[in-house]
Amino acid sequence: MKKVLVTGGAGFIASNFLHYMVDKYPNYNFVCLDALTYAGNYNNLEPIIDKDNFKFVKGDITDIRLVDKLFKEENFNWVINFAAESHVDNSISNPSIFLTTNIIGTQILMDKSRKYEVERYHQVSTDEVYGDLPLDRPDLLFTETTPLHASSPYSSSKAGADLLVESYYRTFGLPITISRCSNNYGPYQFPEKLIPVVISKALKDELIPVYGTGKNIRDWIHVYDHNIGIDMILHHGKVGEIYNLGGRSERTNLEVVKTILKYLNKSEALINYVTDRPGHDLRYGIDCTKIENELSWLRTYNFDKGIKETIDWYTNNQNWIEDIETGNYQKTYYQRK
Ligand SMILES: NC(=O)c1ccc[n+]([C@@H]2O[C@H](COP(=O)([O-])OP(=O)(O)OC[C@H]3O[C@@H](n4cnc5c(N)ncnc54)[C@H](O)[C@@H]3O)[C@@H](O)[C@H]2O)c1
Repeated sequence: MKKVLVTGGAGFIASNFLHYMVDKYPNYNFVCLDALTYAGNYNNLEPIIDKDNFKFVKGDITDIRLVDKLFKEENFNWVINFAAESHVDNSISNPSIFLTTNIIGTQILMDKSRKYEVERYHQVSTDEVYGDLPLDRPDLLFTETTPLHASSPYSSSKAGADLLVESYYRTFGLPITISRCSNNYGPYQFPEKLIPVVISKALKDELIPVYGTGKNIRDWIHVYDHNIGIDMILHHGKVGEIYNLGGRSERTNLEVVKTILKYLNKSEALINYVTDRPGHDLRYGIDCTKIENELSWLRTYNFDKGIKETIDWYTNNQNWIEDIETGNYQKTYYQRK
């Protein structure tokens, strides 16, 4: 029996995490704390919203009084922090909110985790904290000991949070773990990120924006595999440790776009090259040998299987995207309350 706080649970990765965990651990109680920012979608919680071992709380992780009250009332065993501003483009136009949520929010959650003596604080981080790798050195990969070298205000805020988490372990003995994962794809991803943008535009025969030449490389992991990794770290990981998670599926952005167009039987003429993102990272490549060896974590998806399933999900759930495009998704919480 555990009482688990999951922050950011109305977002992409954490909603998938909650679907998996609420079902897998009926004896655990899950509380989702989410501010329902533009990226939070209450509809994502539909499969679990009425489950006895799940509760939703609308609130901001930077609201100290609310967070303190919640910790006091619930007496959490575990805290898993997914909540973040997560879109690199937004961090370039408005860095401030990234520092507030991603760094100050992390500090507040850890202060309360100390005060109320949680057994584990887990920080969900990203491979972007390592910076980027050259395109012509496929032999190079990020390991857990690669120095942090972030490029964007988003990745810098995540790197800052990671350093703070490590400092709370060293200074205060807070029982922490950190996971750093590569690019996720799968159902319920907000249609501002590459894969849902490409699928939704291709389905409507709209032009698909591709930054620069489309040669930037990302490592893609299915969100389900990321989440089973976090589950394993929580149950079997060593306190104080960092674990990389990756898909061993590096693809150029252009390859990803062309794969989707081919599966949907759409023309490559839809591809529209646009001015590159400032500071655009060239390549992310992640070495996840540590978690494979130490915790026997294994992926269940390869990219070819995962991307087909994902395209089918968006094709069959076009109303989910339409609700976001019309803004209706932001009304659901208040309608159901
Ligand atoms: N998407 C990826 O490929 C990827 C890869 C590695 C790591 N990550 C990390 O995983 C986590 C989740 O990413 P995602 O893609 O699901 O993000 P997302 O943008 O889809 O969801 C973020 C969620 O956090 C909530 N939130 C934002 N600010 C908040 C605040 N101040 N208080 C409470 N809730 C708040 C939002 O409402 C939303 O529900 C992030 O920490 C991100 O850095 C993402």
